[in-house]
Amino acid sequence: MLAAAAALVAVAAAGCASIAEGPADPSAGKVLFEARCSACHALPHPQDYAPAEWRPIVIRYGREAGMNPEEKRDVLGWLQEEAAR
Ligand code: HEC
Repeated sequence: MLAAAAALVAVAAAGCASIAEGPADPSAGKVLFEARCSACHALPHPQDYAPAEWRPIVIRYGREAGMNPEEKRDVLGWLQEEAAR
């Protein structure tokens, strides 16, 4: 029980480098993706990767793009929605 609580605290502390919980706003994510993920290279196409593959990519490059956890959640939501089409 204590170990589980400690693990939860650790996850919460790591949260600022990660992706926020809760429902994403994909339309906000699309705008963010187009504005911020095009800073260093051409935009990747959402269907270049499977929905599950986008999560580590957004964690890695969302940090490059200076996105907060909510922004990453929204971008990931949009990418996964498009990738699943
Ligand atoms: C600060 C610059 C920068 C920003 C901003 C950026 N990227 Fe990248 N991205 C790179 C670089 C550099 C590479 C090539 C990395 C390599 O070849 O190892 C890359 C490669 C990629 C790749 C190819 C796969 C890979 O890992 O090499 C994908 C997909 C990608 N970026 C997605 C994104 C997304 C999504 C965003 C927005 C959340 C984003 N990038 C924002 C610099 C950036």
